[in-house]
Amino acid sequence: MQVLGLWPAWRLRTPVESIAQTVEQPIQPAAPVVAPPAQLAPPARPAPTPQPQPQPVIQASAPVAQVDHQHHIGEMDWTALNAAIQSCTRCDLAKSRTQAVPGIGDPHAEWLFIGEAPGANEDRQGEPFVGDAGKLLDAILAAIGLARGKNVFIANVLKSRPPANRDPKPEEVAACLPYLERQIELIQPKLIVALGRFAAQSLLATDTPIGKLRGQVHRYRGVPLVVTYHPAYLLRNPLDKAKVWEDLVLARDTMQSLKT
Ligand code: URA
Repeated sequence: MQVLGLWPAWRLRTPVESIAQTVEQPIQPAAPVVAPPAQLAPPARPAPTPQPQPQPVIQASAPVAQVDHQHHIGEMDWTALNAAIQSCTRCDLAKSRTQAVPGIGDPHAEWLFIGEAPGANEDRQGEPFVGDAGKLLDAILAAIGLARGKNVFIANVLKSRPPANRDPKPEEVAACLPYLERQIELIQPKLIVALGRFAAQSLLATDTPIGKLRGQVHRYRGVPLVVTYHPAYLLRNPLDKAKVWEDLVLARDTMQSLKT
């Protein structure tokens, strides 16, 4: 815990209650997709005769039926999914990003950490949590014996950087969430850790404050989910590291209880 600067201030919470006893938030289906573009849902069958291909156009408002797009993403393997994320134009963030940031780690990880959206460093490097907040996340992982890429997958709710790191817009979340949903289906994590208010509220489809979401084991589509503060928040509010340690202990104990 010294690595988190918590020593010796942390304390163990009482043993985790059984997951069945914890509060569960109703999981809503992803909100309607506002703006899926045509080029993300290519037809599976080849065209009978080669046609000149139109140049990719960023058309955030193309009126493509949501159900078709959702269905398509829900069938993708990792290669197709990552390619779809990289070429995605489902929202206007496609116009300003350098590159999309799908996520990184073990594709069969037991642990899935989910943040908000890429920042400037992530947008440049194509990997989530590589800036100062990322260094702190690495320390958080180390505090419970984990490491980036080793039984851990790290992703964000949004795969593209909001300009000037502004808050994500609801329509951006709606457009991007199917990618995260498919990632979760492919990874099949044992436990999800939501990093920060935005990830927690988006995944649990609630506007309950993060302070009230902490300290319980929720479920996201059946997967246990623990909420903690975002590393960037912790950089600004280091005194709350003790609370993050409590959340990590809850997460670690929950994972252990899933294996026994
Ligand atoms: N903050 C996030 O939520 N995600 C990142 O990848 C980087 C910073």
